[in-house]
Amino acid sequence: MSPERAHYTAMGLLSIAVRIPGVEFFLKRYFNQTSENGATEVCGLKFPNRVGLAAGFDKDARWLRELNVLGFGHVEIGTLTPVAQAGNPQPRLFRLPSDGGLINRMGFNNGGVHDAVERLKRRPDGLIVGGNIGKNKVTPNNKAVDDYLICFNALHPYVDYFTVNVSSPNTPGIRELQDKEPLTALLSAVVSANQSKDIQRPIFLKIAPDMENGQLDDIVDIVKSVGIDGVIATNTTISREGLSTDYSKVESIGAGGLSGSPVRERSTDVVRYLSEKSAGSFPIIGVGGIDGVEAAREKLEVGASLVQIYSCMIYKGPGLASKIVKGLKA
Ligand SMILES: Cc1cc2nc3c(=O)[nH]c(=O)nc-3n(C[C@H](O)[C@H](O)[C@H](O)COP(=O)(O)O)c2cc1C
Repeated sequence: MSPERAHYTAMGLLSIAVRIPGVEFFLKRYFNQTSENGATEVCGLKFPNRVGLAAGFDKDARWLRELNVLGFGHVEIGTLTPVAQAGNPQPRLFRLPSDGGLINRMGFNNGGVHDAVERLKRRPDGLIVGGNIGKNKVTPNNKAVDDYLICFNALHPYVDYFTVNVSSPNTPGIRELQDKEPLTALLSAVVSANQSKDIQRPIFLKIAPDMENGQLDDIVDIVKSVGIDGVIATNTTISREGLSTDYSKVESIGAGGLSGSPVRERSTDVVRYLSEKSAGSFPIIGVGGIDGVEAAREKLEVGASLVQIYSCMIYKGPGLASKIVKGLKA
């Protein structure tokens, strides 16, 4: 079975399971943990624990009930775009088992923000949901702000926080929005849309692990000057350094973002750098290669307030979040 098909099959099976009377209750008791000191407060939101599901796993908010059962403290949906789009041709998701990594070039396949909103109207209680927003592939960068604002306005009543994603390697040109000038303009527009609402939602910026220190310095300045709430570090990397998988196999896979264990160290370095440079003045959500409690603790120790997981769950199984939460307690 292809990795992409396996993803939908596994979640489809879990979906059927939780609808069998008693199963949801049982699984929830089995997997659900809360942090030792109760909720962790970040940006005014009370997270039931510090382990979340990273964006890209449940792009369309299809499985919030199932993911709630697995013990996640928060789930980030998306990346969503204004209009549904198919993404890149398949195959576009590849496993590197000997490295504990994944390469994907999904290309923001999603059913569009308005479909997701309909599902979010029935979201489960007690789970924090973040909305990760992007732009359609066909939207040129000079019109990108409009796309982000469409997604922001549509999701605002239904999510708890936002993530502005400018760091995907799979949408041509989108990473150029990480440069100081376009990024300041984009984030300022989102912040001003937020200020026009009755309730202000926390806004995070998700960045690539491939940024150099000078660019990270700019990020710290922009977060402070524009007044967004925090940073999610990091997305997948375009680097292929340090892999043990056969070079010819890696090359034959082609373009895409690498995630899982190979990105762990670089993501931790980015979290550490941002935390030191900002003197801890804004929260950071650490993500990249977290495969267990030790890796989660590593990100928290260098300055992350929360962590997110994705790729390593593919290898370690659906109990990974619960296991990490339990481990952090100890
Ligand atoms: C198949 C796949 C799809 C992803 N899609 C998105 C996405 O749509 N938006 C996003 O911000 N990050 C996306 N990511 C990146 C993850 O959210 C995460 O930042 C990255 O994989 C590093 O964490 P990990 O090593 O725990 O997977 C995706 C990752 C994978 C593996």
